[in-house]
Amino acid sequence: MTEIIIIAAVARNGVIGKSGRIPWSIREDFLHVKEKTLGHPCIMGVRTYESLPDFARPLPGRQNIVLTSERGYRAAGATVVHSFEEAVDHVRISNAKKAFIFGGAGVYRKALPVADTLELTKIERDYDGDVTFPAINFDNWEETAREKLEAEDRRTGEIVRLSFCTYRRKVNDPTPV
Ligand SMILES: NC(=O)c1ccc[n+]([C@@H]2O[C@H](COP(=O)([O-])OP(=O)(O)OC[C@H]3O[C@@H](n4cnc5c(N)ncnc54)[C@H](OP(=O)(O)O)[C@@H]3O)[C@@H](O)[C@H]2O)c1
Repeated sequence: MTEIIIIAAVARNGVIGKSGRIPWSIREDFLHVKEKTLGHPCIMGVRTYESLPDFARPLPGRQNIVLTSERGYRAAGATVVHSFEEAVDHVRISNAKKAFIFGGAGVYRKALPVADTLELTKIERDYDGDVTFPAINFDNWEETAREKLEAEDRRTGEIVRLSFCTYRRKVNDPTPV
């Protein structure tokens, strides 16, 4: 069975994106995401895919599965699908051990009811932005790991506190969101 894992970096006020980009640049978080996802398929919306820098599009060492409703869309080196269900079927049929949900907001929202695990980088600072992570009922999730650190946001030069947090869905979760 494929483990479906949502991976996201979320500011204290829920922001994940601004003007098509991530509003911070924290090397430790990029390395964390790379370490977690390397070798596993990553499912993402077309805006997230197109926001990746040239050297990381498609994400190297990972099958990139890009969601769009546009039938003729082509992305060299990536697999294009047209519904979230198609993306999940694709990773399950290929017997992937893990598959990562890479964003953005609508894709996270679709994935929350089916995800087994959340890998959230919680940034303990508010950021301005136009895309936010969907609300989560943490009663339904058990925190299984938390690593705290301080790191530089290279966009502002500021030192920020962040935590790498892992949550697993509770077995008896009656409303899986
Ligand atoms: N902080 C983080 O961890 C993180 C992670 C990822 C992204 N981001 C940020 O989030 C922003 C991008 O996110 P976003 O929410 O604006 O866009 P997005 O989810 O990356 O892309 C949205 C587009 O994906 C396609 N799509 C999404 N769900 C679909 C579905 N179920 N079926 C078919 N197509 C689907 C649609 O494309 P069509 O319109 O072509 O149909 C939709 O317009 C950027 O600022 C990015 O930097 C942050």
